[in-house]
Amino acid sequence: MNDINFKFLIIFLIFLGYNAEAKDYYFHPKIGNDSANGTSFKSPFKSLVKISDLALEPGDRILLAAGEVFHETLILDHVQGSFENPILIDSYQNDGSDIKGKTIIDARGLLNGLLITNSNYIIIKNLDITANGPADDSGDGEMRVGVLIFGKGNERITNIHLEDLYIHDIFYEKEGVGRSEAEVRSANGTQKYGWGIRLIADDNAEIENIWISNSSIENVSHTGIKLTGTQRQNIRNVRILDNKVYRTGGPGIQMSGVKFVHVKGNEVSHSGSTDDSRKWGRGSGLWTWSASHVMIEHNSFMHANGPGDSAGAHIDFNCDNVILQYNFSAENAGGFCEILGNNYNCAYRYNISVNDGHRVKGENGAFQEGKVFWLSGFQGGQRERKGPVNSYFYNNTIYVKAGQVSKIAIDNRSKGVLIVNNIFHLEGPVEMVIGDQYKADESSSDNMERVLFENNLFLNGSNWPKDAMIHDASPLYGSAQFQNPGGMKPEDYIPANWELLQNGKAVQPLPDDEFGLIQGFKMKTDFLGNSISKTPGIGAIYMKYRDFQPGQLWEDDLGEHINAHGGGFLIHEDTYYWFGEHKTEGTEGNKAQVGVGVYSSNDLFNWKNEGIALKVHDDPNSLLVKGCIIERPKVIYNEKAKKFVMWFHHELKDRGYEAAMTGLAVSDHVTGPYTYIKSVNPHAGIWPSNYPDSLKSLPVDLDKYERPSEEWKEAVVNGVFLRRDFEKGQMARDMTLFVDDDGKAYHFHSSENNQTLHVAELTEDYMDFSGNYTRVLPGQQNEAPAIFKKDGKYYMFSSGLTGWKPNPGKSAVADHPMGPWTPLGNMVRGTEDEMKTTFRSQSTAAIPVIGKKDAFIYVGDRWEPENPIDGRYVWLPVEFEDERPVLRWRDNWDLSFFDN
Ligand code: GAL
Repeated sequence: MNDINFKFLIIFLIFLGYNAEAKDYYFHPKIGNDSANGTSFKSPFKSLVKISDLALEPGDRILLAAGEVFHETLILDHVQGSFENPILIDSYQNDGSDIKGKTIIDARGLLNGLLITNSNYIIIKNLDITANGPADDSGDGEMRVGVLIFGKGNERITNIHLEDLYIHDIFYEKEGVGRSEAEVRSANGTQKYGWGIRLIADDNAEIENIWISNSSIENVSHTGIKLTGTQRQNIRNVRILDNKVYRTGGPGIQMSGVKFVHVKGNEVSHSGSTDDSRKWGRGSGLWTWSASHVMIEHNSFMHANGPGDSAGAHIDFNCDNVILQYNFSAENAGGFCEILGNNYNCAYRYNISVNDGHRVKGENGAFQEGKVFWLSGFQGGQRERKGPVNSYFYNNTIYVKAGQVSKIAIDNRSKGVLIVNNIFHLEGPVEMVIGDQYKADESSSDNMERVLFENNLFLNGSNWPKDAMIHDASPLYGSAQFQNPGGMKPEDYIPANWELLQNGKAVQPLPDDEFGLIQGFKMKTDFLGNSISKTPGIGAIYMKYRDFQPGQLWEDDLGEHINAHGGGFLIHEDTYYWFGEHKTEGTEGNKAQVGVGVYSSNDLFNWKNEGIALKVHDDPNSLLVKGCIIERPKVIYNEKAKKFVMWFHHELKDRGYEAAMTGLAVSDHVTGPYTYIKSVNPHAGIWPSNYPDSLKSLPVDLDKYERPSEEWKEAVVNGVFLRRDFEKGQMARDMTLFVDDDGKAYHFHSSENNQTLHVAELTEDYMDFSGNYTRVLPGQQNEAPAIFKKDGKYYMFSSGLTGWKPNPGKSAVADHPMGPWTPLGNMVRGTEDEMKTTFRSQSTAAIPVIGKKDAFIYVGDRWEPENPIDGRYVWLPVEFEDERPVLRWRDNWDLSFFDN
């Protein structure tokens, strides 16, 4: 197999324009004067025809008054720029200041808006070109074209850049002219039409290195952008990038006799339009014929109309190495995949198709069925059917709504067919179509060679016709669970059923295919640009994220930034649940306006929004009333009681952080709803088990000390706050829960004015404090505790006390959750700033990874107190060095980190 890289020899021309000798020529159709010198905006020329007198040199500029209308064709003939100094055609504002608007060329009654012949190295920008019908009805010629680049005789045209053009309302005929029924049945139309941009090369001519970018082509009677070379493929190296092609009467984009074309980022919509009687009324969004090495990617093709053809993008006959990838194809009458005869090594991969192929033969003059999938041996006229040869169709997502029949046609002359890893989510019936375009295909697979059809996901067993000649050897069945089936955005086809889609097959060349695909088979990203680090999945998007991107926006399955701050994690039945503070916009969002959110995931990257687990109350008498503070919710599962138990830091409405309580809520279901039970200051009247009797009788003499001072510090370490709160119960602010292997659960919380941590054993049902608790790291000011266990030892991450601002992280180790704990210092390894701010985060959890030994993930919050809903998450792998857990920054990483 020979993976040829798809190389374009085009180099982007940049107008530097500071060639000392270069001249600027100004044109203004109203105030200009053709006998002026034209070299200043104060003395512009009047008519474009003047350009032919100018003997333009490399680096010269033709500047046309923005917003003004020229009723002329702009003709560039024998205009030669150079690679270093292209000639620029652009618009200018009247006062010579920065260019803002476009210059209008109204070529009504003329054959072209812009005509380029025998010219090289030109950049053309900011023109608005229209040519709506003849001035009178008797124009000559066969077509009217917005921009025509015409390679005549044996001339060579190279390096022309068309940028920011608006080409619209191009018609040959005057308004009201209609066409016969037969016209739309002819293969390409036989009458006079208006076209958007055309490149035409005579057989001995060459047209090379052409860019058409950021332009709009709208409302023309035939094709939007059309490249017409000859069998020699003498139009080469063309880039068609980021254009909008709307409401063309013919195809959106069409190319014949071309080699090396890159079509990327274009929006093509309503090709084959009939909204003006002068339009042809038929056309695929894009089609290629006799084309070689064409990459068509990241485009959208929508709403193609017509009685025949009119697919999203189709590969007509005599092509090779045409690849369609990452395109969004929707509601196209003719269908999605169409590869005709005598084609070699073409592919559709990682595209999304929605409701394509809805056309029904016999209805509204349709003479061909629409088809979602069509391999045809047709190669024109009466020629014997042949191929296509080596067609690769993989990782496409195809959705068809209920009530629409999906049709499939496969020519038994096809040789080399790969259909792997696609999703066929066809809600309606599926049928095989035979003998649609020409003499009937026989319904047999006798002649079909080298078929690899496997590992596709079908909605159900009837999603592929029973009488089709080939069948999936190892089909999967089920729903991908798209986010919004029937929607018109790629994101609507983000599946939720990630598990079902995880096991794609690595695609390889078919046997005896010695060429393979240009750029190879392996794809680096899925449709949405998520990197495919290892094996592929099924469909064009099989999971949203395949790695962690610490600190970045992180979208849930609904496309919203995950809203679960100060998170806690529970693993239940091999699924991860992420509980957290549901924040809202603005500073009020720091208070609980909604409650505790919950998400679920099987892979830790992709999270499904499971709604609000614990809702705040409307009742003003409830402690959990809207406007209170709920922070750092944590959930654990009690096997015996079969209850999910949530504890959280709770502050009462309008009382700031003074209540310092811990709240309890319980549910039978992991995602809730949780029922609020109570909030407490724990351990009223109970001393910590490690608090010496000798200190219990010391006074609560808070006023006595200067703060800070050594005496004060000593008083804190000795428990002056503990004694203060002994009767009413202890403070409980930042908290976490930890369940040990023996099923015992512990509640860790910042107590004693955040100066000292308390570790408290919970009762057997986890719904109360047992009364057994210890003081931990007294006077050492720990917040944001996160606990994990490795090799029989307990580790803690925590932070210092700087509110929402980040501070240096801390770590500690113990042989028992209740201590004693030994500080291990800052766990961050990195720059000074990273050390000081813990990567601008504050710890909240440490997640053990299912199925991986000693694999833990640090989870921290980047708080945004001004707009808390925007807070980001920092997830980093925990590394161990000398039995210390440490963290290092990574821009992105995945779980394979733990395999090393
Ligand atoms: C942080 C604490 C957060 C929140 C915040 C309020 O120190 O970790 O959970 O309570 O203070 O300022």
